[in-house]
Amino acid sequence: MSELAPENLLDLSSRVALVTGAGQGVGATTAHYLATQGAAVVVNDYVAERAETVAGEINESGGTAIALQGDVTSFEAVTAMLTTAREQLGTVDVLVNNAGNAGANPLNLTGAPFWEKDPAEWEPFLQVNLYGVLNCCRAVIPAMLEAGNGGRLITVISDAGRVGEPGLEAYSAAKAGAAGLMRALARSLGRFNVTSNCVAIATTRTPAVEAMTSNEDLLRRMLTNYIIRRVGEPSDVAAMVTFLASNAASWTTGQTYPVNGGFSVNL
Ligand SMILES: NC(=O)c1ccc[n+]([C@@H]2O[C@H](COP(=O)([O-])OP(=O)(O)OC[C@H]3O[C@@H](n4cnc5c(N)ncnc54)[C@H](O)[C@@H]3O)[C@@H](O)[C@H]2O)c1
Repeated sequence: MSELAPENLLDLSSRVALVTGAGQGVGATTAHYLATQGAAVVVNDYVAERAETVAGEINESGGTAIALQGDVTSFEAVTAMLTTAREQLGTVDVLVNNAGNAGANPLNLTGAPFWEKDPAEWEPFLQVNLYGVLNCCRAVIPAMLEAGNGGRLITVISDAGRVGEPGLEAYSAAKAGAAGLMRALARSLGRFNVTSNCVAIATTRTPAVEAMTSNEDLLRRMLTNYIIRRVGEPSDVAAMVTFLASNAASWTTGQTYPVNGGFSVNL
């Protein structure tokens, strides 16, 4: 006999989700998407006002959210954030590692080739895109295991981490490192029904890349590399994250899903 189809495939009403860097861009839309499916959402951002605005919007529209300022590159800050989240919402059983790019205080990049760069220039990329993910996974897993209801670890990486991006070598390395971590965690945590996956995105319309997406000439040239000739929208990413967070994805782990308009294609 075939299984009955669930009424709401994406129902997250029993879940508490922490979305890092959720004060704008992909993270903000993801927080809204998860809340719309019923999850209580911890909206983290380095910039407190951004997190408060997004959490306020979710609460005003009938959802449940709290704002927690915190720097994911600091393990102490992340553990403090988890303590508060658990005090206020009981547990955290969905983690979306979204904070990334060049971090909260991007340096002025020199534009020099990698082989001429000072190591100080790659540190912010490694800090937020690799150490931030390590910190958040490390802090959130004990709560998931203690609650015993399984869990979801989802990391937003970049196609740069899959196929490489010239000029963004350290960023590419950090994202690839995060993807390796997620695969290893998938193996460590499968027996607890905690899944661990990545979403690899290409150019997506957010404040971080506004200079690129608002330059029509540059955009036209860039889009020749995309099968679907538009940049991504945060909602494209949020939809995949929501699916991975849901029960519909309970047998999906250790994978990286590109959401990239065909910028690169899988075998
Ligand atoms: N936008 C793109 O084209 C693109 C492409 C590939 C991958 N990505 C990845 O997608 C994710 C989201 O990107 P976006 O463009 O929406 O981001 P964004 O830079 O527009 O916003 C990120 C938010 O994260 C916050 N943040 C930064 N460092 C933080 C830290 N250390 N602790 C807590 N919060 C921090 C920022 O304050 C900001 O509000 C990132 O991981 C990024 O690397 C984005």
